[in-house]
Amino acid sequence: MLVRNSLRRFALCAVLLPCGLAPLAARAQDAAAIEARVDGLLARMTLDEKVGQLNLASNNPRFDRSEVTNGHVGGVLAFTHGPDIAAIQEVARGSRLGIPLLVGLDVVHGLRTMFPVPLAEAASFDPALAREAATLAAREAAAIGVNWTFAPMADLSRDPRWGRMVEGFGEDPLLGRVFTAARVTGFREGSLATTLKHFAGYGAAIGGRDYDAADIGTGDLFDAYLPPFRAGIAAGATSIMPAFNTLNGVPATANPYLLTDILRDRWRYDGFTVSDWYAIGQLIDHGIAAGPGEATRKAFLAGTDVDMASGLYRGYLAEEVRAGRVPDAAVTEAARRVLRAKFRMGLFDRTAPIPAAEPPAPTDAMRAATRRAARDSMVLLRNAGALPLAGLRRIAVVGGMADNGRDLIGPHAALVRWEDGVPILDGIRQRAQQSGIAVDFAPGCDAGCGSPDGFDAAVMAAGGADIVVAVMGEPLDFTGEAASRAHLTLPGRGAELLDRLVGTGKPVVLVLLASRPVELGPVVDRLAGLLMAWFPGTEGGHAVADILFGDADPSAKLPVSWPRSVGQLPMSYDRLPTGRPPDPKNRFTLRYVDEELSPLFPFGFGLTYTRFALSDLAVASRTLRSDGILEVAVTLANRGERAGRDVAQLYVRQLVGSQSRPLRQLKAFEKVALAPGETRRIAFRVPAADLGYTRQDGRFVLEAGPYEAFVGDSSDANLSARFEIVGE
Ligand code: GLC
Repeated sequence: MLVRNSLRRFALCAVLLPCGLAPLAARAQDAAAIEARVDGLLARMTLDEKVGQLNLASNNPRFDRSEVTNGHVGGVLAFTHGPDIAAIQEVARGSRLGIPLLVGLDVVHGLRTMFPVPLAEAASFDPALAREAATLAAREAAAIGVNWTFAPMADLSRDPRWGRMVEGFGEDPLLGRVFTAARVTGFREGSLATTLKHFAGYGAAIGGRDYDAADIGTGDLFDAYLPPFRAGIAAGATSIMPAFNTLNGVPATANPYLLTDILRDRWRYDGFTVSDWYAIGQLIDHGIAAGPGEATRKAFLAGTDVDMASGLYRGYLAEEVRAGRVPDAAVTEAARRVLRAKFRMGLFDRTAPIPAAEPPAPTDAMRAATRRAARDSMVLLRNAGALPLAGLRRIAVVGGMADNGRDLIGPHAALVRWEDGVPILDGIRQRAQQSGIAVDFAPGCDAGCGSPDGFDAAVMAAGGADIVVAVMGEPLDFTGEAASRAHLTLPGRGAELLDRLVGTGKPVVLVLLASRPVELGPVVDRLAGLLMAWFPGTEGGHAVADILFGDADPSAKLPVSWPRSVGQLPMSYDRLPTGRPPDPKNRFTLRYVDEELSPLFPFGFGLTYTRFALSDLAVASRTLRSDGILEVAVTLANRGERAGRDVAQLYVRQLVGSQSRPLRQLKAFEKVALAPGETRRIAFRVPAADLGYTRQDGRFVLEAGPYEAFVGDSSDANLSARFEIVGE
């Protein structure tokens, strides 16, 4: 029975918008003042100058400063040297109207001091960590004159074949909402305007093939892929970047359903949109434009305000207006959105300090912050008693990735200096020395592991040690954009080296440096330990050693399901029940004939060095009104001898609905630190509206009927209690 309609739209915004009336009044006054200043400026602008605000020019050998002088450029990107940025801003101030420039850069997980990649930060299940990392990265970037980042990426991804999974927050909409909002807030606190990207459905590319088509049903679009963008807007995102892909057959860059119906008419978003790199020109390749003029017209009329790097708006938009194919008023409104953003950013008002030429070397404070973030992002997936390392005489570190600062960083590395990084070998050596433990090193092979030449020496080193720490994973060109993989195994002959190391009979702890789950195969059951370190950033070596030696406790959880094999993909924990749920006694049920159905490690899973137990699940009321709050309590106990942190997770399933509903969906989580023997009563509060969903007909509904709550420390949560949603 339908009890509420379009409730969640309100609930989501209400929950996320800052409260309090007085500040609202002040902000309304500021907004009115800004609108008046924008109106005044627009009234003085020619058509060409308005089009100029919609032209984002890239720093390259063909960059023409006179275009800035003549008011034909509204923003620049890929300027990374402070004096160059100061100079080009000065040129803009010298133009007829003196409109300052947006200065954009991909500041994703750091500028020079690198933090863990965004997927790693999501694994921390600690939004405050992501917010702090964004603030610190923003401050480094703002210091050299950058004022706008093309981040955070808000794309949900359920297919690790897609190389850009690493830039997002994984497979779950709640995690995506919380971390997108946290990073927008953090970047803003560090004085960077933000860009939510890539709008929308980029992570659903068929086959995990970057740039390929995405087909997403209405329910999944509104309840999974769009919510992180909505949360980012509520957190104050300055701009939104349409994605390269088609969504249900229409390129996002020229998709009026996305860019006008949803973004403007439903969400009332008043920021600007900016195309991805050359995406307007690529509408010709998409086959929806016969030439640059039509590409310009279709992108602009659909709702792409600013043209990144293609130059098509600069070359064709005014002509389209003069030919009567694009309304002049539409250009004025797009320019208004860009100018509004510049005023809100304070670009007209703040006397920007002289930009530093280069970002400084990582300070002790920055190193401490990124080290802490890295430690709290690493997921301990297996521990057969080898960890934390203790009582050893000799450790053999194997793997070329252990011996350099480059393989720690991951994609979108901005202005990183590889030499700033602390290699894992250095981290282990420094820590082992404190305990009088000797450390041998044998590269075995490099990240791509194309050659077995070093295998024998590595096996020899393993044979002479008490334990092996193998550091393996993905080379840089296997991660990020244009890095789709059809195989998820260790690259090259990595699996062969790992097999030989395990074959020595010595305990092997595998430390993975990768952007996504890696297909490990049967060897995983023979590992003494498995630590997913993702790309941990500048202090990766120290952070890995902190965890391996137990100086810090592993506390992270998987933000993505970890497949046993690539054939299981796409995969996510919140799948539908099907009419043939798995039954090992009946072959005609959901199954593979040649693979398990379950992931190797489930979403939300991660081990600690102590033992946690959840008990005494209680639902405050067995019946819940549609305008009520679901209250679920559970007791978390640390039953081990070490302090630690666990993430209690609340999942909910709608047992009967007018559509088939997911087996479970994450609705709340809380990361809790407990001393040995300590217990904590955790109370989750979830608005009933959050249990609604968008039907295929587009209506948001919250349906009366039976539901079940599950609590655990992974998506395999099995403490459960039923409740009923009743009508109003
Ligand atoms: C790239 C990416 C986008 C990035 C932009 C600018 O192609 O898709 O995420 O922000 O270009 O570098």
